[in-house]
Amino acid sequence: MKLIPETTIPTYLVETQAEANEVLALEIERLVKSQDGSATLGLATGSSPIGLYSELVRLYEAGELSLKEVTSFNLDEYMGLGPDHPASYRSFMSEHLFAETDIRLTETHFPPSDESGLGACAKWEDTIRAAGGIDWQLLGVGRNGHIGFNEPGSPFDSRTRRIELAQSTREANARFFKSIDEVPRYAVTMGVGTILEAQRLRVLAFGDTKTDILARVLRGDNDESIPLNALRLHSDAALYIDAAAASKLL
Ligand code: F6R
Repeated sequence: MKLIPETTIPTYLVETQAEANEVLALEIERLVKSQDGSATLGLATGSSPIGLYSELVRLYEAGELSLKEVTSFNLDEYMGLGPDHPASYRSFMSEHLFAETDIRLTETHFPPSDESGLGACAKWEDTIRAAGGIDWQLLGVGRNGHIGFNEPGSPFDSRTRRIELAQSTREANARFFKSIDEVPRYAVTMGVGTILEAQRLRVLAFGDTKTDILARVLRGDNDESIPLNALRLHSDAALYIDAAAASKLL
């Protein structure tokens, strides 16, 4: 793993995705152990984190990591699917991490994705604050530069709210559904401002669909319409990217 010079946000080039997963899993393990097991993690879904979650499950099965005292907050959830829908983000987390470890489901939180509105979103943010804030937040990045489901144009001080998904996001995520028509049009996402309040931000980005947006953000001007650019404002943010994603930066 090596630091790529002259990027706007610290960025590490990893030799393999497995290397990034091992580095971040170790960071989580150290954090959890340093706080007697009671860390608050911010979690993401999609393809990027799957290998990291497998690594955490491996550490759990090896007896090296327990998530029993961990609290988690996921970045986003689709509206209109319900938690038991196979494509909901709760189902995703259950499949890849929750059901495979000792995390207590009562301590796993998702943004309120029913029709309960703004009041519920503010209350959900209170739950994050009551947990002491997020110690360590995982992020992926959309090919349009979204973080969470904060689509381009989301203000850097935005809070948890309902958002209309960009067509490119619905197309990218159609692979988790039978057809694009089934991909919800709306989701609830932590805001950019909410994300920036986490102590540490760690971004995974792999493959050639991320190359252009990474070149634009990491070498380009500070376009405030691209949510990933908000990470420039954070003092402990880092990206872990593979050679395909980094190809325009090397
Ligand atoms: C998912 C999320 C999204 C994804 C992004 C990248 O919870 O917040 O921002 O991280 O769309 O998705 P993948 O990893 O599937 O390329």
